[in-house]
Amino acid sequence: MVDVLAAVGARAPVPAVPASGPVSDALYARLSAEQVAELEAAVEGNVKQMYDELPVEDRRRLLVSAAAFYRAEGPLATMNLTAAEPPEDVHAMARGPLAVGGDLGMADFVVQALEDAGVRVPAGGTVLDFGCSSGRALRPIAAWRPDLECLGCDPNEAAIAWAAAHLPMARFFPSPIDPPLELADASVDVVYAISIWSHFAAAPALRWLAEMHRVIRPGGALLLTTHGLDTFATYVRGELMNRGLMAAGVDRMLREGIHFLDVFGEAGDWGVKDEGWGNSFLLADWLVEHATPQWTVRLLRRGRLDGNQDAYVLERCA
Ligand SMILES: C[S@@+](CC[C@H](N)C(=O)[O-])C[C@H]1O[C@@H](n2cnc3c(N)ncnc32)[C@H](O)[C@@H]1O
Repeated sequence: MVDVLAAVGARAPVPAVPASGPVSDALYARLSAEQVAELEAAVEGNVKQMYDELPVEDRRRLLVSAAAFYRAEGPLATMNLTAAEPPEDVHAMARGPLAVGGDLGMADFVVQALEDAGVRVPAGGTVLDFGCSSGRALRPIAAWRPDLECLGCDPNEAAIAWAAAHLPMARFFPSPIDPPLELADASVDVVYAISIWSHFAAAPALRWLAEMHRVIRPGGALLLTTHGLDTFATYVRGELMNRGLMAAGVDRMLREGIHFLDVFGEAGDWGVKDEGWGNSFLLADWLVEHATPQWTVRLLRRGRLDGNQDAYVLERCA
């Protein structure tokens, strides 16, 4: 008999994430030679060790991130970045020296995935970070493209209040547990949603997909990420989950297309209570069957987010 978990764990690992990307490169390109020298002189300790170990061509993202950690006012102003850091009691998915001014790696991931799908936000266009938490990805994107109207929403009101008070480069608003958003029909060019559909049960996943179809203009795009087979592959390889739970999860996902686990319970996710929000795992065919023909699939990259979440770019059909 086939050992399904062994087969899942034996999937080819996803290639390593590049050490730079379009947002980091564009921000770095704004720095003068003197500002690069200033930042190189500032890095020390663990950050310096990391910097020295990187190949020269891969050092740009780290140096851009270091500007916020070392509060280098000149380079920050040149790049339109800020060094406001969410305190520990405010939800943030990245912390530490390289995340003070936002998460350049996540911004690069978003823009690279869109570019790979042939999507470029038009000049003056509108971008929404759906489920933005305290804005780690949106702030470098807004710094990179000041021509855009950048919107971020999340039901975590404390995270949104912090972002609204500290990140003037974007507009933040709280979102409801269920649709609709306070946005007009077809008013957004691109929505991205990092680690959001990886948490929705089937019904809210489909309700929010329909809501994205309402707010995105025809021809606009939705980038979303989901847990799937590569998430289980990571769990199997790292022994990160009880084997019985994993076997049941893979079995349900293979038979029904989607498997949902309530992991937050009564307390909710940082106090955000929603019974349709937990950990979900889904197959590409489940998503594609439900997304088409209202959407065209422009891109599918398995495991592309952190080696375990699948990334999709969908284009809204008319
Ligand atoms: C895993 S975090 C990802 C945050 C952000 N996208 C990032 O990558 O930093 C999930 C986020 O989804 C938010 N969330 C919870 N319930 C939600 C819902 N029903 N709709 C949209 N977002 C939700 C959480 O508050 C949290 O900020």
